[in-house]
Amino acid sequence: MSAKIKVGVAGLGTVGVSFCRIVLEKAQMLATRSQCQFELTGVTARSKGKDRGIDLSGAQWFDDAVSLAKAPSIDVFVELIGGEDGDALASVEAALKAGKHVITANKALLAKHGVALATLAEENSVSLNYEAAVAGGIPIVKSMRETLAGNDVSRVYGILNGTCNYILTRMEREGLSFNACLADAQRLGYAEADPTFDIEGYDTAHKLALLTSLAFGTQVSADDIYVEGITSITTADILAAEELGYRIKLLGVAQKTDTGIEQRVHPTMVPKNSAIARVSGVLNAVAADGDAVGEVVLVGPGAGGDATASSVVADLIDIGRGVRLPVFGTPCAQLQPYKRALMRRHEGGYYIRLTLKDTAGAFALIAQEMAQKGISLQSIVQRRGPVGAEPVNEQDGKEPLPVILITHDTTELAVREALESITALNVIDGKPQMLRIENLN
Ligand code: HSE
Repeated sequence: MSAKIKVGVAGLGTVGVSFCRIVLEKAQMLATRSQCQFELTGVTARSKGKDRGIDLSGAQWFDDAVSLAKAPSIDVFVELIGGEDGDALASVEAALKAGKHVITANKALLAKHGVALATLAEENSVSLNYEAAVAGGIPIVKSMRETLAGNDVSRVYGILNGTCNYILTRMEREGLSFNACLADAQRLGYAEADPTFDIEGYDTAHKLALLTSLAFGTQVSADDIYVEGITSITTADILAAEELGYRIKLLGVAQKTDTGIEQRVHPTMVPKNSAIARVSGVLNAVAADGDAVGEVVLVGPGAGGDATASSVVADLIDIGRGVRLPVFGTPCAQLQPYKRALMRRHEGGYYIRLTLKDTAGAFALIAQEMAQKGISLQSIVQRRGPVGAEPVNEQDGKEPLPVILITHDTTELAVREALESITALNVIDGKPQMLRIENLN
């Protein structure tokens, strides 16, 4: 056996500890598979003395990540610190400049600095691997960069945040409120330290930005993503979706259109019989539509120490095997500038939930506004009482009426303008709810 590869790990949280454990416990298997011996030679983390349940006595302790990144005693720097700037950025830059291969699970870092760091990696002839940064344990980066490389991809989309999928699944299965499900997700450790990142869609957006670049050979452009989280979803929407044959999922979607590439993150109605609709709980899924292969869907754990570490170890094995690929599948100089397709041009079906004041002609006015904007309705559900419940209180005639409209394919602009006009008519209570329907087979 062959070369020794010395590994430095920055960040000993759940993923860092799992990674070190796998490297230590499976040393023989990894050596056989990669024909290299991986040796943990350096570590750094926030607190030195903490018992992490693994024996790191063979590794030198470093007080800061940048010193570890540059240390002559490592060949590969594994960044598991997190954060888009700060120590994560400084240490990854230092490692690349020092000619070390880098592995990171940090989607926020790559969403912001991906092309600059990829350029640095190319200049220094080293790898920058990040399988764990997108959908944790699902091997989607490898799939996009290698296995699907012969395809012209028209759309890549997925459930990229386990916390949101867990919340939506429990709301659907148990009829619980959004807040109750979020509290459970936090208690169980699924949510990010700041749950805003999960529930407002930013975590999904970071991952989507990387998928877009891999799928379309464009520069990473996280600032060009339309982002809407799941905080507005109510049990009324969940029940209405169920009745109409859909489920609600937070999707990240990147899609080629005539005017550019759409990147969007939003709660989405997906047909109940689609593969993506059946992905429940904390699981993630990523789907790609390729011209040669058709649709490919990968499902698996998007978070968790061992599952995420599985991807980090795979990146390490690639380095051991001497596999070095363009970071985003295309050499940096040939990545195309990202051209944003405007969200108002987005085409698709829409779900609209309104609470109608029970006055004569109110519904006719709404139908008229829709028609004026050229929106054709596919179905209308109107009933007294909350969506999903048996009709109640038929006699007083004064309760607001929930109305659900499903449109045929139309444009975002038409729907937004129609809803603005409807709101101005003073025939509805509160804000209309509007969700996009994704065309899936
Ligand atoms: N908090 C993320 C999730 C995992 O819920 O999927 C890491 O990106």
